[in-house]
Amino acid sequence: MNDKQLVAEYAATQIQDGMLVGLGTGSTANFFIEALARRQAEEGLRVTAVSSSTVSAVKAKSLGLPLVALEQVERIDLYIDGADEVTPDLTLLKGRGYDLVREKLLARAADRFLVLADESKRVGRIGERYPVPVEVMPFAWALVKHRLENLGGKGGLRPTAAGDGLVVTSYGSLVLDMSFGPEWDSWALDEALNATPGVVEHGIFRALASAVLIAVDGKVKEFTGEGA
Ligand code: 5RP
Repeated sequence: MNDKQLVAEYAATQIQDGMLVGLGTGSTANFFIEALARRQAEEGLRVTAVSSSTVSAVKAKSLGLPLVALEQVERIDLYIDGADEVTPDLTLLKGRGYDLVREKLLARAADRFLVLADESKRVGRIGERYPVPVEVMPFAWALVKHRLENLGGKGGLRPTAAGDGLVVTSYGSLVLDMSFGPEWDSWALDEALNATPGVVEHGIFRALASAVLIAVDGKVKEFTGEGA
């Protein structure tokens, strides 16, 4: 079992009967969805799930997990998702899967947000390994890019994997992947992005994670603050 599976299996043990669970997106979240479906099938665990993306909803449905639409949800018990970067104060960078609005809505709506990561995701500062995904209204992309360049950002619109088009989110937004230098701390960058008109959402998740689960030497460790 790899480290992603190990933390996903552990996270599934945290789910209790009757919970409304938020399902994340990505390879680690997929392991969690599988583990949760297995508990439902083998132990008769009763859960309802709400998904952060169409791709996770399709997976959950194929495994028989009962889903409710985000529109029906005012709060959830637990949200389980991966991340691309995790700092010691549990600020996250997310959004390689680009459905940032749903992910941040679920993170905010959850009583508890458990992040599944592995050692490779631990960084000193947000943006160390990946650019920051910035979801923008299509007609605003050039103005937003210009403003972010004035703040020292470098990057551009995210192309599709085949390179023959641009990524469009499920809400019709475009995604700018912007790199910022070490002079930007993640809190200041979060505020600057929040204050930029035309930005729908961005990948910095500040003060949202309750804990980060990381497998260390084959054992799952839960980090809740300094030291992740
Ligand atoms: C999707 C995300 C993912 O959680 C993040 O990209 C991690 O993915 P993986 O579990 O495949 O490493 O934020 O928007």
